Amino acid sequence: MRNITMRSAILWINVFLISVTQSVSNCPDICRCDVIQDRKTVTCNQGGMNLIPTQEMDKSIQVLRVTAPPEVPNNLTVGRIFQKFHFLEEIHITHSNIPAIGDSSFWPCQYLMVLNLSYNKITLLHYSNFIGLKNLVTLDLSNNLIYATPSAPFYHLKNLNTLSLAGNRLDGLVPRFFYMLSKLRYLDLSGNTLSEVDPDNFKDLGAVKSLILRKCHLTSLHSLVYQNVPNLEVLDLRDNVFYYIKPFEFQHLKRLRVLRLDNNYLGDIRENTFSGHNLDTLNLSRNNIISIDSCAFCNSSIRHLDASNNRLTLVKKSVFSPLSDSLETLNIGFNKLDHITVANIIDPLEKLQRLSLAGMQLEKLFVTTFSQNRNLRYLDLSKNELECLPSAVLEPLTNLEELDLSNNGLKELQLSTLKIINETSSLQKVRLHSNRWHCSKCNVGSLLACLNSSAFLEKLQNESLVCSEPEHLLGRKLETLYPEELEICPLPVTLSRTLTTHLHIGIVVTIVLFVLFLILLTLACFLTRRHYAVYYTHENVIEEDKTRNGDTRDINSQNYLTPKDLRDKKSKKKDMVMRFI
Ligand SMILES: *[C@@H]1O[C@H](CO)[C@@H](O)[C@H](O)[C@H]1NC(C)=O
Ligand SMILES: *[C@@H]1O[C@H](CO)[C@@H](O)[C@H](O)[C@H]1NC(C)=O
Ligand SMILES: *[C@@H]1O[C@H](CO)[C@@H](O)[C@H](O)[C@H]1NC(C)=O
Ligand SMILES: *[C@@H]1O[C@H](CO)[C@@H](O)[C@H](O)[C@H]1NC(C)=O
Ligand SMILES: *[C@@H]1O[C@H](CO)[C@@H](O)[C@H](O)[C@H]1NC(C)=O
Ligand SMILES: *[C@@H]1O[C@H](CO)[C@@H](O)[C@H](O)[C@H]1NC(C)=O
Ligand SMILES: *[C@@H]1O[C@H](CO)[C@@H](O)[C@H](O)[C@H]1NC(C)=O
Repeated sequence: MRNITMRSAILWINVFLISVTQSVSNCPDICRCDVIQDRKTVTCNQGGMNLIPTQEMDKSIQVLRVTAPPEVPNNLTVGRIFQKFHFLEEIHITHSNIPAIGDSSFWPCQYLMVLNLSYNKITLLHYSNFIGLKNLVTLDLSNNLIYATPSAPFYHLKNLNTLSLAGNRLDGLVPRFFYMLSKLRYLDLSGNTLSEVDPDNFKDLGAVKSLILRKCHLTSLHSLVYQNVPNLEVLDLRDNVFYYIKPFEFQHLKRLRVLRLDNNYLGDIRENTFSGHNLDTLNLSRNNIISIDSCAFCNSSIRHLDASNNRLTLVKKSVFSPLSDSLETLNIGFNKLDHITVANIIDPLEKLQRLSLAGMQLEKLFVTTFSQNRNLRYLDLSKNELECLPSAVLEPLTNLEELDLSNNGLKELQLSTLKIINETSSLQKVRLHSNRWHCSKCNVGSLLACLNSSAFLEKLQNESLVCSEPEHLLGRKLETLYPEELEICPLPVTLSRTLTTHLHIGIVVTIVLFVLFLILLTLACFLTRRHYAVYYTHENVIEEDKTRNGDTRDINSQNYLTPKDLRDKKSKKKDMVMRFI
């Protein structure tokens, strides 16, 4: 009996406790409330909201996330709705059609570190918007409609580290726009049609390390702009309208590590453009670069260089030499360099680990192309027109891990090449699909045998290889072929080639000899026959004469011949000679 009352008492206490905790941690129906990484988090992401249900929320939450799926938008405004929320550290209200921020909306959230109001319809900024946010570290105002601000809109954000205004409608910056942002390290202004930057506007950005100016319609930057951001490590100028870069353009950016100039209109790279720089990444891809000065990279070091998708046809051998101690990644794909230029420019690059030569219309490679690039781990030769790959090309690449030969014109892989692929233990990925496999014994016989080995298949990532020839095997997957189905080739291609050349020589020699023989024979015959003919004619004529005269005794005497006989004899003699000839 006592036991039962004890138990029911405990039960009641439990029920009471549960209801108490529930009433403390209020959670609006439309939202979800969790503890994520030790922080009380409210997430309202179903959409269709007209106000943020702060009344029903636990006032001690630390993170608030409000967003909406595109088909059920929120239409929200923010006034001073967070006055009782003293512990908020992060507020994200995105995709919610907020038209304006309002005065002191986030006051007194003194612990607020992240404010994300991206993907709304904010048009104006004012410094009163951010009163009280002295600990704010990150402010994301990207993808709004901000077009105007008074000066110093971020005056209260003395600890701001990261600011994004990307994807707005700023077509210029007011003076002292960034006033008081002395701790700002990361600034993103992408997607605003700035067209040009007044150096004075960047006066307060002395601490900035990353400046993202993507898609800003910039044609150039004044050297004073660079001087105002001397601590820059990352400069992103991609998707702009730069037509040229001056020699020593970036000389004031002594700490520059990453420079992105991809997708501009650069036509050439001039001498000393990167002189004095020690770059981690330089991206020059998707420009119109036709030429690179042979001293473009003088006195500079670059680890990763992307010059793909340009119009390079000729690059001097010495262009990349200054980078021989530093370059680890090179992408020069989708240019039109021939195999000689390719071999020349990569020859000095002994440190190279990743190389892309894709899409260059290469039909062949020198066997010594990679002889100096023994550190290569990744090699992309895809989308070329290679028909075969001699084993000697791969021989130096003992550290290769990934090889892409897809989308070429490969008809065959010979045993020696397969052996190297097989025996290079570091080589884990080989792409061979989309080639023109000629499914006959001499061309793919060895390859077919390899496909029986699971280790080899693993390297191919289980990709299917498909026959292009002969016609009756068109479209068949190699791994489904039986060895018996393969046509036996008349002669292995290389052997038959050498044989035919031998054959050609043989035929020529025979013909010459035969002609010589004929000439000799003709001469010999002519000489002997002429003699014989004369003799024969004589005899004949005499015999004829004899029979005609009925005299068989005097065979040598011509005295009996009449003048007519003589005439006859002469013409007959002529006849005989003529006939012989
Ligand atoms: C938000 O506004 C849009 C257009 O102004 C309207 O179509 C939509 O129904 C509104 N959503 C809510 C939840 O009020
Ligand atoms: C802000 O929210 C957007 C949309 O959810 C997100 O893509 C972005 O990364 C967020 N920004 C920050 C700084 O968290
Ligand atoms: C090379 O760059 C350094 C800075 O890293 C500079 O001091 C030096 O003058 C430059 N040398 C030449 C020849 O330009
Ligand atoms: C360079 O830029 C192109 C295009 O903008 C991009 O696809 C590529 O990944 C970039 N390369 C590097 C090394 O960043
Ligand atoms: C490749 O290796 C497998 C075993 O690892 C072996 O059976 C096969 O014969 C080898 N093929 C060639 C072409 O060396
Ligand atoms: C692959 O193996 C199967 C059975 O293990 C065998 O019948 C077939 O002939 C082999 N194919 C080749 C190309 O060696
Ligand atoms: C290839 O296929 C085998 C079995 O079909 C599977 O175990 C393996 O994970 C696959 N490998 C890859 C890289 O997809």
